Amino acid sequence: MPVITNINDLKRLHKRRTPKMFYDYCESGSWTEQTFRENTSDFDKIRLRQRIAVDMTNRTTASQLIGQDVTMPVALAPVGLTGMQRADGEIKAARAAEKFGVPYTLSTMSICSIEDVAEHTTAPFWFQLYVMRDEEYVDAIIERAKRAGCSAMVLTLDLQILGQRHKDLKNGLTAPPKLTPPVLLDLATKWRWGIEMLQTKRRSFGNIVGHAKGVENMNSLQTWTAEQFDPRLDWEKIRILKKKWGGKLILKGILDAEDAKMAAEVGCDAIIVSNHGGRQLDGALSSIRMLPSIMRAVGDKVEVHLDSGIRSGQDVLKALALGAKGVMIGRAYIHGLGAMGEAGVTSALEVIHKELDITMALCGKRDIKDLDENVLLVPEDFEGRWA
Ligand SMILES: Cc1cc2nc3c(=O)[nH]c(=O)nc-3n(C[C@H](O)[C@H](O)[C@H](O)COP(=O)(O)O)c2cc1C
Repeated sequence: MPVITNINDLKRLHKRRTPKMFYDYCESGSWTEQTFRENTSDFDKIRLRQRIAVDMTNRTTASQLIGQDVTMPVALAPVGLTGMQRADGEIKAARAAEKFGVPYTLSTMSICSIEDVAEHTTAPFWFQLYVMRDEEYVDAIIERAKRAGCSAMVLTLDLQILGQRHKDLKNGLTAPPKLTPPVLLDLATKWRWGIEMLQTKRRSFGNIVGHAKGVENMNSLQTWTAEQFDPRLDWEKIRILKKKWGGKLILKGILDAEDAKMAAEVGCDAIIVSNHGGRQLDGALSSIRMLPSIMRAVGDKVEVHLDSGIRSGQDVLKALALGAKGVMIGRAYIHGLGAMGEAGVTSALEVIHKELDITMALCGKRDIKDLDENVLLVPEDFEGRWA
């Protein structure tokens, strides 16, 4: 077992053990990747205030997200094709989250289906919905999520049109991969991945194939996804979907104070300040930079979560200290999964938890709920002046 001390250790192993096509799918942003890069580099601009002579015993990172008890306020973000990073990836990640006591979010574009994940876990998970043109399909998947006991619906609002990620086009990304000569050459060094993949039956989009009209195989699926994301999604449709779901609702992909106000008006249990990990609008500002303005706009009206760029417990602490009630991690746990399967996801959560706990203590706090801006040193021009 390799010694893992930080998320970067898992990232290195992920790269070594996973086919290039899927590692690149994870580790890329759209176009120039400016937003993708700044999501992490902006966290580094915020510094921490060291405090001393504070009793550090009896610390706790326990909190609540949308009223649900959590070991720490960190949820696993929805990540499409997780089951291609490692065989049965969604089930493995959901199990690790359940054991750790944090929520797992299953993507619409997952390999394991909602029913499959529900069958192999006991804790309720969150279900992420991409809104499709095919209303019958959308209605049916909402019903499936209800039947599976999902405890929240995460409605993603920032991907009605796909941002271009150059590497995916160059690699010819498909699930499962087409066995071209370069892919076969790559797979020769990724034998662990290949053996596990041969042993599972889950190698296609489990929530779609066999559920959407006319999608029985991979060829029709590709046409279907290209045509199906609904570019007409608007606030009225969001209201209708909220009604259809009827349970806890989280709106994901909000990066602007005006949109945050609209989300609060529509009514939801939480919003996620997010730029989709820099995979959609390249040139948008980082989530952490946009957080203060969104907190000022709706911080007293709705629970605010944040994702995009979190790679450590220190990043989690910075987001919480700026007012977020919780965060989501995407790549940080996918690196763990690609590196070591379920144990790797657990390892990612442990790393982040330990960093969060120790940082909190060294900033002079014992309870995560007491974190506020006083533990931070934020550059005066952090938010920037944009006309
Ligand atoms: C490989 C990959 C696939 C993703 N797929 C989805 C998805 O299916 N649905 C969704 O709402 N967000 C998706 N996201 C965005 C994540 O939910 C999350 O917003 C993002 O990963 C956060 O940034 P981080 O990776 O820097 O933590 C994906 C992100 C990555 C990296």
